[in-house]
Parts: sequence; structure tokens; C-alpha cells
Amino acid sequence: MDHLTDKEFDRVCTYLSCTIGLNMRSKRVLLDCRLSRERERFGFSTFSSYLDAVEAGTDNEVNARFIDLVTTHYTYFLRESRQFDFLRTTAFPELEASRPRRTWNILCAGCSTGEECYTTSMIAEDYGRGRNLPPVRITGIDISGKAIEKARRATYQPAHVEKVPPRWLSSYFTHNDGNYTVTGPVRRRVTFAQANLNDPDALRRRYDLIMCRNVIIYFDRETREKVLDNLHRHLAVSGYLILGHSEIIRSRAKFVYQKDSVYQKQPEAIIS
Ligand SMILES: C[S@@+](CC[C@H](N)C(=O)[O-])C[C@H]1O[C@@H](n2cnc3c(N)ncnc32)[C@H](O)[C@@H]1O
Repeated sequence: MDHLTDKEFDRVCTYLSCTIGLNMRSKRVLLDCRLSRERERFGFSTFSSYLDAVEAGTDNEVNARFIDLVTTHYTYFLRESRQFDFLRTTAFPELEASRPRRTWNILCAGCSTGEECYTTSMIAEDYGRGRNLPPVRITGIDISGKAIEKARRATYQPAHVEKVPPRWLSSYFTHNDGNYTVTGPVRRRVTFAQANLNDPDALRRRYDLIMCRNVIIYFDRETREKVLDNLHRHLAVSGYLILGHSEIIRSRAKFVYQKDSVYQKQPEAIIS
């Protein structure tokens, strides 16, 4: 098997940094291994010709598989569950008080295969029981078209639902051929779109709550700042931005830290 030369590795890293914002400089073995197999799979005789095809972007399958190979999609239902407790105990009660009639818009940025969106929808479903809440609209976006396809199918293997309580399993899923499929209103309030967070026009509306968990950790510093600025712009005043447990915002000018990697957007007047 051929290996990436220093020059080719640099070319891949530069491309990933400029397009998706990923910092892959410490992932040489992983990239080498995955892209070598990919080059052979498509029958490119050299890495250069494979990378030419990726950069040209004319073959959808080459590009979709490339994006899928360089991104990490690990996720499961109720991952980092304290943050879902925060939705139930703090974010949703505050929205109920401040936006009793207008649709609540929630964004899961970097939603992978959809488990985070559907978990949020299940929390909303439980919270809304016996209350007269406005509609809740949950949008999941991810750069990987393959992840978005799986999210739309909403069918999961048992390992992904291990943390799901039995009541949810029986109320919000159907069980077929050993897999679990999300159904009913919990599924209908979630929609998905393929989008690149590194694109300043990726987001269209203002959200009352944004989850962007275990995504910016993969970005280079510049992209992280750019993406956080964009999420800030699209978050309602006093809205919450929820990051992954190992992700932090260093500059606190725009967000106030709450707890468990939850940040609240500062009122506009305080931002210099
Ligand atoms: C590890 S998963 C996190 C899934 C979920 N948020 C969670 O915490 O369980 C990271 C996701 O971010 C997506 N991603 C990476 N770079 C992205 C970008 N520039 N724009 C949109 N999504 C991106 C990947 O495709 C991947 O599905």
C-alpha cells in the first residue's frame, strides 16, 4: 500500500483546514490509512490524482465519502446526559416563561447521525406533557451527507440506545429486526440539512438554543473562533449555547459560563 508523502499529507491538511476547518495535523496515521484504501477503492493510480478529484468536487460520491472519512461521527442517545437535565430543569422552563407563544427553535450543529436531536425532542415531548407549549422545531445540521441520511432514517442499533430509559424505548421507538426506529411527534419535529459550519452563510435563522457538542474540538483555532462568532450571531439574546464537556470558550466577552459546558449569550449592551 502506498503512503502519503509529506507533501501530499500537507496538501490534505491544508485543504481540510481551508474547507471544513478541521485540524488533522496530528492524525497522519489515520488519514494515511483511510485515504490509501479510498484511493485504491476508486482506482486512482496516485494520491495526487485522487486529491485532484476531491478538490475538483465533480464526483459526488468521491467527495461525500471523503468528508465521511475525515470526520468523526461518534454519538449516542443521552450522551453527556447532565446537559439534557439542564434542558429540562432550566432552559425549557425559561423558554416557557419568556416565549410562551412563539415556536422554540433549537439547533443541533454537528448533529452526526441524529441521536442528539431526537434525545432533545424526547426531552421536549416529556416537558410538554400537560403544558400548553408552542411548537418546538429542532434542526440538525452536519457536513456529512452520509450522517444526515442516517439521521433521516432514524433507525439505530441497540448500542446507540443503551442509555435510553425503558419508558422512552416503548413510547418513542418501534423495535424491528433488532433495531430501534424513532417514531411519532418526537421524530416529526426534527429536520435535518447538510451544511458546513465553516461557511458563514450556513445558518439562516435565529435560534433560542444551540447545541454544538463535540464538534469545535476538531477545528483549528481560527475556525473555532469563526464558528463560535457565527453561532453567537444566530443565538437569541439570553439563549444558551451548549458545547461538549471538553470544549471551552476562552473569550468570555460574548458568553457567560453557566455550568457543564453551558454558556449563555450576553445581553447585546454588554458586548463592547
Ligand atoms: C463527534 S460528532 C458529534 C455528534 C453530537 N453532536 C454529539 O456530541 O454526540 C461531530 C460531528 O461534527 C460534524 N462536523 C465536523 N466538521 C463540521 C463542519 N465544518 N460543519 C458541520 N459539521 C461538522 C462531523 O461530521 C460529525 O458528525
